[in-house]
Amino acid sequence: MDEIVISGGHRLRGEIAVSGSKNAVLPLMVAGLLTDEELILRGTPRLADTRTLAKVLAELGATVAEFGNGPGEGLNIDTPTLTSTRASYEWVSKMRASFWVLGPLLARAHEAQVSLPGGCAIGTRPVDLYLNGLAAMGADISVEGGYVNATAKGGLKGARVDFPFVSVGATHVLLMAACLAKGETVITNAATEPEVVDVGTCLQAMGAQIDGLGTRILTIQGVEKLHGADHTVTRDRIEAGAFALAVAATGGAVTLTGIDEAALGALAPAMRLAGAGLIETDGGLHVTGPAGRPQPTPITTEPYPGFATDLQAPFMGLMCCADGVSRIRETIFENRFMHVQELARLGADISLEGDTAIVTGVEKLYGAPVMATDLRASVTLVIAGLMAEGETRISRVYHLDRGYERIEEKLSAVGAKIWRETL
Ligand code: EPZ
Repeated sequence: MDEIVISGGHRLRGEIAVSGSKNAVLPLMVAGLLTDEELILRGTPRLADTRTLAKVLAELGATVAEFGNGPGEGLNIDTPTLTSTRASYEWVSKMRASFWVLGPLLARAHEAQVSLPGGCAIGTRPVDLYLNGLAAMGADISVEGGYVNATAKGGLKGARVDFPFVSVGATHVLLMAACLAKGETVITNAATEPEVVDVGTCLQAMGAQIDGLGTRILTIQGVEKLHGADHTVTRDRIEAGAFALAVAATGGAVTLTGIDEAALGALAPAMRLAGAGLIETDGGLHVTGPAGRPQPTPITTEPYPGFATDLQAPFMGLMCCADGVSRIRETIFENRFMHVQELARLGADISLEGDTAIVTGVEKLYGAPVMATDLRASVTLVIAGLMAEGETRISRVYHLDRGYERIEEKLSAVGAKIWRETL
């Protein structure tokens, strides 16, 4: 088992290239199942999650091949025929996005048996929106033995799908399903996250008829068949946000390449309030840390364009050393505060009141052994470790490897003292 070790207190300086987006590449890979032609995805990150999903797709009949010599090149997904319509618990329990194959399987093969993903560390995460939406499109759905069994004899039919609230995954799945349904589907309260827009843009390149990408109403005219495409994955705004926060936390100065300020969304004004500098340059987004301690800054997570839940934990990392009290409210997931206990081990002063963490900034954090509890919690511990005096040792780094490509290499290259130890 690997551990990440950080000797804190070093400013970050230089340039970091932002990788392709994890939360875009996963649904894009799933979208490869919708066609019998080849889908080429460029600029893909090499992550544990993409490798896991490649195995799920292979079980369904896809050939997933990496091309190029290094990270950032690409993947080919080729599914001439679907050889199975069953996604087993073994895989779906490892990574929730595997559940999303339900949409393409039902759309293309008119049947699917997909394991329920179950709960996970950050909340219960039900799938009612997916199932109700697909049922509205004519799917016959039952849940038995932990599996969703869905059939759509004669194919899915266009329908109106009104989501009661915004769900990224349910939007991905219904959008993919609607592309091959008969007639028109209207999805209201659709997610507008950049990753959804990226998937929609790729589907359009595959021949899908979609209107309204990036808005709350998507209108899709189903087509008989989708074809192959060559698509470049959007950059990872969540990875970029974590690096921007790491720079602010160390009082450094780093240019993030491949991304602009708009991509950071609501993180950008929050970082400015905290005292960080963000300047667009020809080379990328130049981030500088506050002159002294960060200013306390409140945030509330919301669906896009609000403050991303995936950046809540990393932002809390920065606020641990703010000069005052910050209220951090999580409205998307009910249990996404597991990093609080671990930050406390480094000396942070945080109390929880329902969905809000009250972070009283301390002058300094001190290195300690800590444990990663989920993906975004793990990068928060990296940020806190970079700020802390002394050595921080992070265990369970497989969480980190799910979503951050070569993070210790990227941070070392800008002056962090961070390395991996294999025990
Ligand atoms: C996606 O998860 C992301 N995952 C998450 O990133 C991200 O935190 C989340 O969207 C919100 O932005 C990927 O893209 C792979 P949701 P998803 O459906 O689609 C509830 C990370 O760290 N809900 O938008 O699963 C749900 O429980 C991950 O990279 C239902 O109640 O999130 C949650 O409270 C973690 N019923 C809320 O909606 C449903 O049928 C929003 O979840 C569906 C969702």
